[in-house]
Amino acid sequence: MPTAELHIDGKVIELPVIEGSEGERAIDIQNLRSETGLITMDPGYANTGSCESSITFINGEEGILQYRGYPIEELAENCTFLEVSYLLIHGELPTEVELDGFTNSILHHTMIHEDFRLLFRALPKDAHPMAACSAMVSALATFYPDSLDPRDPREVEVSIHRLLAKLPTIASYAYKHSVGQPFMYPDNNLSYVGNFLRLMFANPCEEFEVDPVVEKAIDLLLILHADHEQNCSASTVRIVGSSHVNMFASISAGINALWGPRHGGANQEVIEMLSAIADEGISGKEFVDRAKSRDDTSRLMGFGHRVYKNFDPRARIIKKACYDVLDRLGVNSRLLEIAVEIEQLALSDDYFVERNLYPNVDFYSGVIYTAIGTPENMFTANFAIGRLPGWIAQWREMHEHKHKIGRPRQVYTGETRRKVPQLSDR
Ligand code: ACO
Repeated sequence: MPTAELHIDGKVIELPVIEGSEGERAIDIQNLRSETGLITMDPGYANTGSCESSITFINGEEGILQYRGYPIEELAENCTFLEVSYLLIHGELPTEVELDGFTNSILHHTMIHEDFRLLFRALPKDAHPMAACSAMVSALATFYPDSLDPRDPREVEVSIHRLLAKLPTIASYAYKHSVGQPFMYPDNNLSYVGNFLRLMFANPCEEFEVDPVVEKAIDLLLILHADHEQNCSASTVRIVGSSHVNMFASISAGINALWGPRHGGANQEVIEMLSAIADEGISGKEFVDRAKSRDDTSRLMGFGHRVYKNFDPRARIIKKACYDVLDRLGVNSRLLEIAVEIEQLALSDDYFVERNLYPNVDFYSGVIYTAIGTPENMFTANFAIGRLPGWIAQWREMHEHKHKIGRPRQVYTGETRRKVPQLSDR
């Protein structure tokens, strides 16, 4: 095994270099502190590998994204979201029999306990759906004490099916509550996405038909969001799960991490940004200039990525899907026109070019969501439904490997030891 040498305090420390299956290399510093008393410093963990993982591979320089070895472009073209979920969680694409069993189980556990209605009723009408989703997923642990043990494979499997089946119901109820409409019961004869669309958009007074164009578009978006290795929310799910708390609590934490505007919450912010440009008559150039300005804290939402420094392959697929969906629905979108204009301006602007800032997955997804009638505050909840199988796969992989509780260290920079003064002397 190759090693790296660290020369420190007159000593030479040999550090093993480990290599992944796609050639990524890492210096293993697990024994650094015990051998030298030193720790490493890496705020934001931009250079820190937290685990070995065989789920998702990203090459940010070349814009490659693969789930379990399969390129995202091929999965998007050939698979459904439930097939991709199975792949992420179990490691291989399902056979027909396996897919039937998996789909059947997910589609027949979509109802949530009637008492959830009381929980939803207790929330304010304007509660953000992400807050509601996280609270309700956490509450699943109170309804299902029979599947909380992370070391029992059967209980883990049951929790996985419950989460995949129930999150669309929970997310749609968060929306229904916010608009004061009755909660719909799931229809288990529909597809995973068809059922979600009905839960969101149907009401008990009218017939509802699932539009196949919309169904396919949402399925595609879910696939593109399904996993992205050790991002903020996945790392949150792992670190919370490393305490051996149950899967519901870990996923609830991941939902909260995803909500932030620098992570999944960016999809809502992008559409708010594009709408503001349209409504206030600001020119695209003016907006791009603002995002560059040191005096202005606003960023160009939907641009930039910690890992992708050339292009985000998901953004390419979504941009194309945007045109297809809008075309098939006959929607003429001013927001899409503005998005394209902003993208062109930014991609030819030195500020964005020098910093390798490209459209990310969130830049065009909101245009599709808007075209099919999804309210803005539900964009990130849609993202969470998509990301769920990735979080589950990451959580389970961690438990299957030998792992320690997640617990970073720090370099303390505060006061050194001092005496507590009496209240009268302070
Ligand atoms: N608009 C304007 N400037 C930006 C943007 C942006 N969207 N993104 C980064 N920059 C600038 C920063 O100001 C910084 O400039 P400086 O070097 O002059 O100080 C430089 O580019 C590097 O930015 P960092 O924040 O250090 O990069 P990091 O890798 O930590 O952040 C992030 C990545 C959080 C995605 C960032 O690009 C961003 O905030 N983008 C906008 C929010 C967004 O779209 N988030 C969704 C990401 S995809 C996802 O999570 C699903």
